[in-house]
Amino acid sequence: MAGRDAAQGSAPEAVIPLARPVLGEAEERAVLEVLRSGQLSLGPRLAAFERAFAARLGVQLASAVSSGTAGLHLALRAVGVGEGEEVITSPFSFVASANAALYERARPVFADIDPITLTLDPQAAAAAVSERTRALLPVHIFGYPADMPAFERLAARHGLAIVEDACEALGAVHADGPAVGGRGHPAVFGFYANKQLTTGEGGMVTLADAALKERIDSERNQGRAPDMGWLDHDRLGFNYRLSDIACALGIAQLQRLDEMLAARARVAELYRAALAEVEGLQLPCADRDGDARGWFVFVVQLPPGVDRDETVRALAERGIQSKPYLPAIHLMSFYRERFGHRPGEFPVCEDVAARSLALPFFPAMSEGQIARVSAQLRATIERAVAT
Ligand SMILES: Cc1ncc(COP(=O)(O)O)c(C=O)c1O
Repeated sequence: MAGRDAAQGSAPEAVIPLARPVLGEAEERAVLEVLRSGQLSLGPRLAAFERAFAARLGVQLASAVSSGTAGLHLALRAVGVGEGEEVITSPFSFVASANAALYERARPVFADIDPITLTLDPQAAAAAVSERTRALLPVHIFGYPADMPAFERLAARHGLAIVEDACEALGAVHADGPAVGGRGHPAVFGFYANKQLTTGEGGMVTLADAALKERIDSERNQGRAPDMGWLDHDRLGFNYRLSDIACALGIAQLQRLDEMLAARARVAELYRAALAEVEGLQLPCADRDGDARGWFVFVVQLPPGVDRDETVRALAERGIQSKPYLPAIHLMSFYRERFGHRPGEFPVCEDVAARSLALPFFPAMSEGQIARVSAQLRATIERAVAT
């Protein structure tokens, strides 16, 4: 029966979760091997995962870290962002991309986003440059490539560093050739459980500069220089290490990445077909001008005037998880209080943030589940518009 996943007759339909990782026997075997080896951290899987990940993206180097957030922090330190300096970034992101600047007592300076791709608008970013600007931090939000050629021109004009937040963008490709994360300046991926590739928690910084990698590798490990003796530390560092258990998971996941990305793209296409006719509903932008999205989430923007909380409630009552995603960072209470941000500063971001809703999205979603979510969303919107 199309649109139904209940096993039989009148059994209640299972809840459709927002996300669910693909984990199988290969992952189990890989983790077991590490457990049996006894070398649970700083073992051979760390370098192996880094090499395999860099090769996959066509970039020279990679450093595995304990999370995307840790990677952003170390990447900003590595390019020299310091106290009192400014980092221009997107207010339409997960809060970690802005927080990472604050860890170094730098200031995240927001600029508005492009209304189609939802990534940082290069012109708005250019208008935000000041004499304190040290770096640009574009975010490949929802897996869509930010306009890196434009940011590279802007960075060159003002002598700025670039750090890319690619946490949501594994599998994305730029129109001019490189994979997202493959352009050489530090780019940060996240491996939390909902990501295209997961190690439970984890992250990776890809980059081309060996000196930056040396610094990141040292600072993730308490500031220990690679050639120093045990417990010799020549700089401030952190514990941002990724365990060998996680790296083994990552290697196994990397081997099936193409299959997982293709499955996500299939789900997105089915959603697109099922939701295309819903009046006023905005779907994620299609790939434009040669840029290609690495599918991470399926986020729609509800028609203006449709109550989002009510929509979430109505879907939940029918066993469908959904989530407002993402809130504007500058309007979060901490950012308002700390920096005095007010509504109206970034109108495109604020409009998108007020209407965006993440639907269940994971590689193993069945056609029936997609049809069920789509039908319920359509009915909920039509009811809201009619009242
Ligand atoms: C855009 C973006 N930036 C940064 C992060 C932080 O990654 P992590 O949760 O691995 O620290 C995430 C992850 O959720 C993200 O989506």
